[in-house]
Amino acid sequence: MARRKKVYEGKAKVLYEGPEPGTLVQYFKDDATAFNAEKRDVIDGKGVLNNRLSEFFMNGLTAIGVPNHFIKRINMREQLIRAVEIIPLEVVVRNIAAGSICPRLGLEEGTPMPRPIVEFYFKNDDLGDPIVSEEHIIAFQWASQQDMDDMVSLALRVNDFMSGLMLGVGIKLVDFKIEIGRVWDGDFMRLIVADEISPDSCRLWDIETGRKLDKDVFRRDLGDLADAYTEVARRLGVMPQGPSGVSKPTLIN
Ligand code: TMP
Repeated sequence: MARRKKVYEGKAKVLYEGPEPGTLVQYFKDDATAFNAEKRDVIDGKGVLNNRLSEFFMNGLTAIGVPNHFIKRINMREQLIRAVEIIPLEVVVRNIAAGSICPRLGLEEGTPMPRPIVEFYFKNDDLGDPIVSEEHIIAFQWASQQDMDDMVSLALRVNDFMSGLMLGVGIKLVDFKIEIGRVWDGDFMRLIVADEISPDSCRLWDIETGRKLDKDVFRRDLGDLADAYTEVARRLGVMPQGPSGVSKPTLIN
């Protein structure tokens, strides 16, 4: 088979040219990084889990009419997606205080937000993805006023959908990050959810025990990351046998 053309390689994913114009193949690696790649490791099975979980979330969003880049899963680690022009912003929604907002605003981890808070960070690794305001976004023309309204609306719809889904399996959606891209249908431009939605880009806490089921397990050395992601997948009915596809051996009495 001819080698595919690599279009982009990020910390956790690779994008290849897709089979048709306007499509890409998104490959999920097992690499985990944190703190702008200062901490890194390879977590067996993470890519397989995130491929399946992102497929599951994006399909759910499609079902409720939230436009996104997902077309179909190709294999254990790859999915076909629509090519988009990524807006250079990380769009974060917070329901409960955790992570960077705690030191920034002097909040204790676990403090509920008065309402879901939408924040924007400029995607720039050299600068450590600084938080930016609507003023910066519009003045530097990363997005228009109309785009801003659409991004907030998309982010809050994703929040409602993901919060409800997680609540149903005993998990609190603390916060998450999405990326948004532009697609053109002829002269008509619209914004769609892109990148991935997975425990790499969310904070997920077990409602009963408070156990963390997201990338904070890796960031803070709290245990086995693949176990945490497998638990999320199992509860949602995605890959009940775990990422190897083979059920664990059981004792026969
Ligand atoms: P933060 O509290 O570190 O700002 O993160 C907010 C949310 O965004 C959290 O769910 C983790 C996610 N996130 C990413 O997906 N990528 C990143 O590079 C960062 C910093 C956060």
